[in-house]
Amino acid sequence: MSSFPQYRARRLRCSENLRRLVRETTLSTGDLIYPLFLIHGRGLREEIPAMPGNYHLSVDQLAGEAQDLVSLGIPAVLLFGLPACKDETGREAYDPEGIVQQGVRALKAAAPELVVITDVCLCEYTNHGHCGVVRAKPEQCAGKGLPNGCLDNDATLELLARIAVSHAAAGADIVAPSDMMDGRIAAIRTALDGAGYPCTAILSYAAKYASAFYGPFRQAAGSAPEYGDRRGYQMDPPNQREALREVAQDVDEGADMVMVKPALAYLDVLCRVRERYNLPLVAYNVSGELSMVKAAAAAGWLDERRAALEILTAIKRAGADAIITYWAKDAARWLREG
Ligand code: PBG
Repeated sequence: MSSFPQYRARRLRCSENLRRLVRETTLSTGDLIYPLFLIHGRGLREEIPAMPGNYHLSVDQLAGEAQDLVSLGIPAVLLFGLPACKDETGREAYDPEGIVQQGVRALKAAAPELVVITDVCLCEYTNHGHCGVVRAKPEQCAGKGLPNGCLDNDATLELLARIAVSHAAAGADIVAPSDMMDGRIAAIRTALDGAGYPCTAILSYAAKYASAFYGPFRQAAGSAPEYGDRRGYQMDPPNQREALREVAQDVDEGADMVMVKPALAYLDVLCRVRERYNLPLVAYNVSGELSMVKAAAAAGWLDERRAALEILTAIKRAGADAIITYWAKDAARWLREG
């Protein structure tokens, strides 16, 4: 390559059409997945304080919401549920009349073409707030992580499989386990096939880190652990090679798509997974990544629209095919406006 003054990088930057011609990455509405938080009750649409522009919705609101999403061109939603009551093993998570199961049916009735993805986990549904079956006493956990061996991985697999089958039975297109138990993809695939749902796909939260950026979500979903933390099952932030092992394992067990979560602090991981694997790759632009921009924008410190589009484009540039983002509806509008 020639050097200055033969080469002048600025030549191709001096008009919008030139920039469009040489642009390497395109963000489009078709890349976006919008998370929804479902609550029991009727006529409810309550803004989530830590996540401005996002709402707790009762099931009767979903027909209208689905129409909005379809008219914006957003292809998919990811459902989370807040149960009526919590217990030791998170029973509402696999109840055919549970909040997510009702939500899936309502969305499919209103907009059959909208892809419905369900989060498969126990933490919103258990009284201890952990993502699986806990065998420890709270005293053992005070001030520390869950002691080793206290979260019963293999007993949890059975419940996760039940959740996934109940979501598939309600009509979910894709189930997305976010618990980080070992062996869950195989357990869920076997259960789905056995129950007659061979076409329900699995999006694995393959590389999900124990991150500070889930804070606003945990308030919104009421899913913060009562004691201990999730470091005994979610990944340790400094690790990149381990993420590749997690992905390898999930691909081997039958995942159809894999995810890296969070997105912003883990773009290197996304990039590495993209280089190594040919499966569709999803990134989760998590709650804290939204809230920090919202807060800075509210203080007048940065321009939300520009920051959000820059972030979403960066996530695509790093290698994501699709992005789960609380900005999905805003981004669809911004992209339409051009
Ligand atoms: C449930 C789950 C979490 C998120 C998605 N699924 C929280 C957690 O693991 O504590 C976080 C999403 C976000 O922060 O936007 N296991």
